[in-house]
Amino acid sequence: MLSAEILKQIEEGKRARKTDELFLLFSMGSQFDHLIKLMLGKIGVFCIVANPKTINVEDVREIKPTGIIISGGPASVHGEPPPFDYAIFDLGIPVLGICLGFQMLASHIGLEIRKADKREFHLGPITIHNASSKLFLGCPDGMKARNSHGDIIEPSGKLTIIAGSVNSPVAAGNYKHLWGAQFHPEVSETENGQRIFENFCFEICGAKDRFPAEDEAEKKAEMIRETVGNKKFILMLSGGSDSSALAFLIKKVGIPKEQWRAIYLKGVDRPEDEDHVRKYFGNQDWIELVVVDLTEEILQKLKGKITMLEKRDGFKGEYDNAMIKQAEIFGAVLVFQGTIYTDKCESGIGYETDARRAVIKPHHNANNKLPEWLRQVTPLDDCVKDGTRNIGRACGMPEELAVRHPFPGPGRILRIYNEVTNEKLRIEGECERIFTEELRRWGLYEKVWQSTAVLTDMIVTCSKGDDADTGRIVLLKAVVSVNGFTAEVAELPWDFLKHVSDRTTNEIKEVGAVYYCISGKPPTTIEIG
Ligand code: XMP
Repeated sequence: MLSAEILKQIEEGKRARKTDELFLLFSMGSQFDHLIKLMLGKIGVFCIVANPKTINVEDVREIKPTGIIISGGPASVHGEPPPFDYAIFDLGIPVLGICLGFQMLASHIGLEIRKADKREFHLGPITIHNASSKLFLGCPDGMKARNSHGDIIEPSGKLTIIAGSVNSPVAAGNYKHLWGAQFHPEVSETENGQRIFENFCFEICGAKDRFPAEDEAEKKAEMIRETVGNKKFILMLSGGSDSSALAFLIKKVGIPKEQWRAIYLKGVDRPEDEDHVRKYFGNQDWIELVVVDLTEEILQKLKGKITMLEKRDGFKGEYDNAMIKQAEIFGAVLVFQGTIYTDKCESGIGYETDARRAVIKPHHNANNKLPEWLRQVTPLDDCVKDGTRNIGRACGMPEELAVRHPFPGPGRILRIYNEVTNEKLRIEGECERIFTEELRRWGLYEKVWQSTAVLTDMIVTCSKGDDADTGRIVLLKAVVSVNGFTAEVAELPWDFLKHVSDRTTNEIKEVGAVYYCISGKPPTTIEIG
């Protein structure tokens, strides 16, 4: 039976948008499910997220959605059948299955799903066999699409195959009212992804109503105003674009300076971070900045810790302690964090459905353990990176802050192999400084979404001068992305890379070689750790 909460959500959503049309998104635990929700918001249709375990065919009959979308997920139709009432496929309501969702509907109509001989985790061209297919109207043959799958659908006469990709003959298909894409139209690198969703919603499902995008900044400001009232709070401010956007949102709300303060924790931050934070948030009449040096405490905590997971854990403990201590000192009962959806989602928290969700890496600002008297507030946790940047801009955040490269909360800990020591922090910091300096000098900083320098424990034999020596291998990485859910390697000019390598090996005695990482996400996450 449908819960009162869902019925209320549907009723209020329809009333606010003056529409009777509604799309149901069954989240099967995909890393990208929220991108589908955001995409539907962008094209202006009303969508609610459904739990595949609890919403059954009778519920769907009652809701009468205009269309249904089934996301991908970490499960496989073989070994771990996703929780879902397959009778929903027989209702005659148009369905778009994405990745696992496509495999589910294909297996329902009797097709074989099997382990692919060659798995696909790449951005590659798809061949459109039927350009007049409603799903691909306006989409050119050879357009690039993001794949991330290990199973494939075996071709069969039952399914009209609309497109194929390098390693899967069935990249998109159609059977009566059931449509599917093996690739991910919701991620930013897939060309014409928005068009595919528009085709599904308007051409296939026949939706008519489109409502304008909401004023996100205004909506968030209202939420902050209501939550804060006259309570005292702290904001964890790293100077990255998310926490900076949140600071400017609080400024927009106009909360008096005496009621809140921003805490900047230093120790594993990037070489230029503290200067940036002081420049924009120090000595201002609207914000009180407190800088806390945690270097010693963090190093102490990380002693003997080798794996990235252990180090993330150690940092998180120290971060939580420092946050609680600062709240106590100020008498705050709320702590604001710039956590965004990617942080939550990769930490295994997302839409509350009973589908399994993979924990990619536990982020420092998700799942925090706080005492009862301190409540965490994360107004941006339904946004992804490009969204928070736009909210910040709408609140007057300077462009220099909006375009800063994202940076993980656990900072450079994730960019150092094995135990983190003061010495390794110094070497990694130097590499990071040279790389960033040169990206700026060559006018490449803003063309790249994120850049990192990783200090490995791999040693090469080198000859510096005429003498024999050894040095560490440093790994540089730069990616282009829109929201960090997916990313492609940035094709930096060869001369530039050579120059950075020369500077790094010349200026840093301990470095023997510089490598450039060329893998995209998926499969490799942006931060090595
Ligand atoms: P990955 O490495 O998962 O990162 O591809 C996606 C984006 O998130 C950043 N990242 C983090 N940010 N706390 C954060 O605030 C974390 O624990 C964390 N881990 C990764 C990463 O730098 C990239 O921008």
